[in-house]
Amino acid sequence: RFSKLQPVRASGPFALDATFRADPDSKKVNLLIGAYRDGEGNPWQLTSVANAKKTLKIETCNHEYLPLVGSIELLEAARELVFGDELLQQANNSIASIQTISGTGANSVIAQFAQTHLHPANIWLPDPTWENHYSIWDQNAPNVTQRRYPYYNDCDRSFDFQGMMRVLQEDAQENDAILLHACAHNPTGLDPTREQWQEIAILCNEKKLFVIFDSAYQGFASGDLDRDAWAMRHFFRYPNIEFAVCQSFSKNLGLYGERVGALHVATSRTCSPPAGQCVQGHLIDIQRSMCSMAPLFGARVATAVLLQPDLREMWKTDLEVMSGRIKAMRKALYDELVILRTRGTWEHIVEQTGMFSYTGLREHQVAELQDVYHVYLLPSGRISLCGLTAANVKYVARAIHSVVAA
Ligand code: LMR
Repeated sequence: RFSKLQPVRASGPFALDATFRADPDSKKVNLLIGAYRDGEGNPWQLTSVANAKKTLKIETCNHEYLPLVGSIELLEAARELVFGDELLQQANNSIASIQTISGTGANSVIAQFAQTHLHPANIWLPDPTWENHYSIWDQNAPNVTQRRYPYYNDCDRSFDFQGMMRVLQEDAQENDAILLHACAHNPTGLDPTREQWQEIAILCNEKKLFVIFDSAYQGFASGDLDRDAWAMRHFFRYPNIEFAVCQSFSKNLGLYGERVGALHVATSRTCSPPAGQCVQGHLIDIQRSMCSMAPLFGARVATAVLLQPDLREMWKTDLEVMSGRIKAMRKALYDELVILRTRGTWEHIVEQTGMFSYTGLREHQVAELQDVYHVYLLPSGRISLCGLTAANVKYVARAIHSVVAA
């Protein structure tokens, strides 16, 4: 029965992370997975999260099922974070929301929902994008053709806005789905400007595309939750653009392993009666067969941080701490490369935003960094800046300098 099964060739950040863990070299540096590390390179529990757990008195909590939709309190708070209080007042039951198994769960449910109920011919993914987007659409919506729109200009390491608009203008069909990263694009760290977002919204509206925002880094691009929600809120101002938001709390609350997230679908506000409730029923239905409902513990913690004013204030400081340290590491790496007069230009490291830098290092250079210097990054040249510390940044810069000079 199983003898004909081909083994899976493990790839991606988690497979490389296993190789990293097995590497006995004491100089090794992990720049792989997008998970925050403190100044000493250790996982960090947010101060707001630690305090939330105290207020929950977790030893007294029961372990009942959540309702299929998830935690109602979390969903209300999560929706407010995406759409903002003011705009939400116009929503009038037009938004469907369910709690999901973080961003991956939200992306999976919306892919299935799109294939079953919206029937887009194509899903347009940015080139490049988070590698899991390809698998998620393969597994959950095999009848929807995957297309890629240009996102990155390799020559000058910029966001390829012209290329994106041209291809979508020419090739996207009415009712196609399109995936957009709400902020801090993974892996490039390049986001559209507000003016560019406005043009993207006009195009999506004119072409009647079903937009899916992947929002995994709210608070990480600018350090400010509202500023990072700008693009999603701008789309919401169009009463007829219908779009989904896959919201992850893994990064901004540091709740990686707890799998806390939500999926929101903003349906047309001119539809009567509003379609929110009906869409929500279908999302619940899809998720029921995958995992019944999302888990409870992380939802309790996230809800406490989002809803208790003192914890929410602490959270804002936590976000500033994390995004501030990442920015400082961008600058430190850039400065070292400049001091070393490393071949090429490196301004892009400080200009990109979020957890990652798309360094422009080639696959053979990445392989050499790993084999010779035990510095681990993705073959695409993406580094997670979280893995840099004051203690290793000089070493990493010297290693990059050597492989670039070779
Ligand atoms: C990453 O891109 O490193 C993270 O989003 C972790 C993951 O799931 O791939």
